[in-house]
Amino acid sequence: MARVTWHGHATCTLETDQGTRIVIDPFFGDNPSFDGTVEDVEGADYILCSHGHFDHFADCIPLARRTGATVVSTFEIVSFCQKHGVENGHGMNIGGGHRFPFGYLKMTPAIHTGSVEGDEEGVFTTTPGGFLIELGGKSFYHSGDTALTRDMELLRGQVDLALLPIGDNFTMGPRDAARAVEMIRPKVVIPIHYSTWPVIEQDPEEFRGLVGDLARVEVLHPGESYDF
Ligand code: NI
Ligand code: MN
Repeated sequence: MARVTWHGHATCTLETDQGTRIVIDPFFGDNPSFDGTVEDVEGADYILCSHGHFDHFADCIPLARRTGATVVSTFEIVSFCQKHGVENGHGMNIGGGHRFPFGYLKMTPAIHTGSVEGDEEGVFTTTPGGFLIELGGKSFYHSGDTALTRDMELLRGQVDLALLPIGDNFTMGPRDAARAVEMIRPKVVIPIHYSTWPVIEQDPEEFRGLVGDLARVEVLHPGESYDF
């Protein structure tokens, strides 16, 4: 068993049976769906960043500095963090997996653009990804920001719980996300990356209707948890 708590947008916390806390795409202070700042986040053992856009990365360095959590992301983003005072990092790349104490984690492809904003160092490009994590016999997939891609077919049968963006404009919208469900066939899907701002306003019930019988759609409100 594990618990996922959605903080709004693409930000969530995974808690394992053993009490390991894994924060994915930390975006708290400027996240309209999160009530508080990064200082209100309880703790983190690992921080996973799918890519360097501010709405996935803004609180990565502050949270890692405060908690000592290990940042797991692409080699470039981890190197950037380490240059900015983060002690613990584990750089990876798309398609590569690693066995961490909490389980096996693989970075998955995402079709998206990538940048990391550095204070006085300009802007760097990076390749965005997602995460496939095996936790205590269950499999969890956070796609990151992505378009619909046939690569998702490779995940079929490997995912118990999927978090997929449905906001449109920057990522898949409800129709493409429903087609992603058709390819991946997760048991349960939680829609994310929507209604944070007017440009990505969506009705998750429309997504639920499009998914139909293909998977169970769990619509969470920011702050709510789901056990899997
Ligand atoms: Ni993005
Ligand atoms: Mn985004």
